[in-house]
Amino acid sequence: MQQPPLEDRVYAPQPAFSRRAHVPDMSAYQALYEQAHQHPEEFWSGLAERELDWFEKWSQVYRWEPPRAEWFVGGKLNAAYNCLDRHVAAGRGDKPAFIWEGEPGDQRVLSYRELHRLVCRFSHVLRARGFKAGERAIIYMPMVPELPVAMLACARLGIIHSVVFGGFSAEALKARIQDLEANLVITADGGWRRGKEIRLKEAADEALQDCPSVREVVVYRRTGSPIAMQSGRDLWWHELDRDAAEDCPAEPLDAESPLYVLYTSGTTGQPKGILHTTAGYLLQCVMTMKWVFDVRDEDIYWCTADAGWVTGHSYVVYGPLAAGATSLIYEGAPDYPAFDRWWRIVEKYRVNIFYTSPTAIRALLRQGDQWPAGCDLSSLRLLGSVGEPINPAAWEWYYRVIGGERCPIVDTWWQTETGAIMIAPLPGATPLKPGRASFPLPGVQAEVVDFRGRPVETGQDGFLVIQRPWPSMLRTIWRDPRRFEDQYWRRIPGAYFTGDAARRDADGYFTILGRVDDVMNVSGHRLSTMEIESALVKHPAVAEAAVVGRPDEITGQAVCAFVTVKTGQSDYHALAEELRRWVAHEIGSFAKPAEIRFAEALPKTRSGKIMRRLLRELVTSHVVTGDVTTLEDMAVIARLAARRDDE
Ligand code: WTA
Repeated sequence: MQQPPLEDRVYAPQPAFSRRAHVPDMSAYQALYEQAHQHPEEFWSGLAERELDWFEKWSQVYRWEPPRAEWFVGGKLNAAYNCLDRHVAAGRGDKPAFIWEGEPGDQRVLSYRELHRLVCRFSHVLRARGFKAGERAIIYMPMVPELPVAMLACARLGIIHSVVFGGFSAEALKARIQDLEANLVITADGGWRRGKEIRLKEAADEALQDCPSVREVVVYRRTGSPIAMQSGRDLWWHELDRDAAEDCPAEPLDAESPLYVLYTSGTTGQPKGILHTTAGYLLQCVMTMKWVFDVRDEDIYWCTADAGWVTGHSYVVYGPLAAGATSLIYEGAPDYPAFDRWWRIVEKYRVNIFYTSPTAIRALLRQGDQWPAGCDLSSLRLLGSVGEPINPAAWEWYYRVIGGERCPIVDTWWQTETGAIMIAPLPGATPLKPGRASFPLPGVQAEVVDFRGRPVETGQDGFLVIQRPWPSMLRTIWRDPRRFEDQYWRRIPGAYFTGDAARRDADGYFTILGRVDDVMNVSGHRLSTMEIESALVKHPAVAEAAVVGRPDEITGQAVCAFVTVKTGQSDYHALAEELRRWVAHEIGSFAKPAEIRFAEALPKTRSGKIMRRLLRELVTSHVVTGDVTTLEDMAVIARLAARRDDE
């Protein structure tokens, strides 16, 4: 019999998996969903009691005065305590918390007891130096265990942390330090990526020239290369550690006490600081570790994300540790020294659960089956995907070649703002459809609506919204409550607007179609068109710039910039190179345009707005259709289409 096309195939859960799963079948899922829907207070308070340790119980499960949400009002707890102390106290101190491998091949295994010790020592240092609850720390580090140690040490004291991905440039780092008015920066000399050193301290020094709020900089030694230490400001981690004590009890903090701020791209040139608080965030991280990753005590779990992104926060650090799991961390690139590096790690540590992005899957797929085929991947029992839509062909390869047709794939939809996974299959219960994120988790009321907030018909495209508050939702945008309200709560009546389009099929499965705003998704990283435009127009040769996302086979989308230049330019090729370097300097290498096109003018409406829709069509289809009657100069389009300066 002929197989149906990829996107129409359905993969039923395998009985051997379901038998042991946290949620063993669809009726169990439906029962949970109904319970959460009908009795949200009972549902969430039952879980909070069972899954978290509290110093004081809450008086109210949640308070919802749109757009302000509070969860477990009046309760007191500590995130680091829930990630560490309680596991050690329960006799699980010897269990590995982190298994770490550096890019050069160095290894460390930290048990819960050892991790607890490191965290206590570092928080003791911070406390002794006068840092206290409510102050802010920027963490700009490579993926070494001391990065989560720094996060947890802050959490232990109530210091709000903000991790900045090591790929961001000095300029981007500076903007974040300034917006957060950070008091402390925790960094390292450098880290390894594809055999090269990323010189973090150098970038931090450049950023710090203009950051008066920062009192001290703690530097972890990773690469050992020479760096400048500014006396009176810079301190070596290992020197501080010499005088550290282990006695540093976790502060009882309010359930709504801010845990971290994570900057992400929005629809303006200014990144937004998404604020997450403690109890609700942690609870939903733990629940999704169980429901979606079906984590078991003996599992080795590996999420490949960097802690600089939300996936690293929720599914490398807080989720796995709060759930008492063993979480693997790898410092470097998937293709270093060869394309089988990840598969060798899976083989070496007998990884059971593996969570990565569609971009990585497509990039590795392209290298051929011989790389995974040369490794023993039989330990894997569950695969996950996050960050962008996964196309059915990549899904199928992941399922067949990596998972050996034995492992369910959880295609998890969520955002920096949602804090934890919102829509995903439950691996023991949900029949899988390649490319569909499937159903909302218990407690998540997702809907596909039109701009008035009315549900659209089955099969129709619409806006993805969440219609009720959920525990791990963002609480605000740092220093910008107005923008928080406008961006998320005013677009669609009565709901949280995700910025994504979606569709539901006749069985109710959600397919996520991608962003409907000016946010691009490149390699699963969020980038704002406006942010790159602002960077480009800062260059002295640039008059105007418009940036759009272009479909890309590997990275999902690629950055395409249209640029008009000031007079006197002749070598466009050299200028394109220069502008790419410039964007790397202003934001980071990962934001470099894949393509720059120069134009005499950009297409604009009569009121002077750049018509990005036309440019998007141009890069997608190479022809422009649609209504162009509001165009100022039609000839511009023809000239744009003709003049390209590809990479
Ligand atoms: C996209 C990453 C399709 C989406 C956790 C969302 C996805 C944005 C999926 C958030 C998925 C994330 N299928 N699209 N499974 N997961 N996205 O904040 O457009 O970096 O709005 O959080 O990624 O990106 P962020």
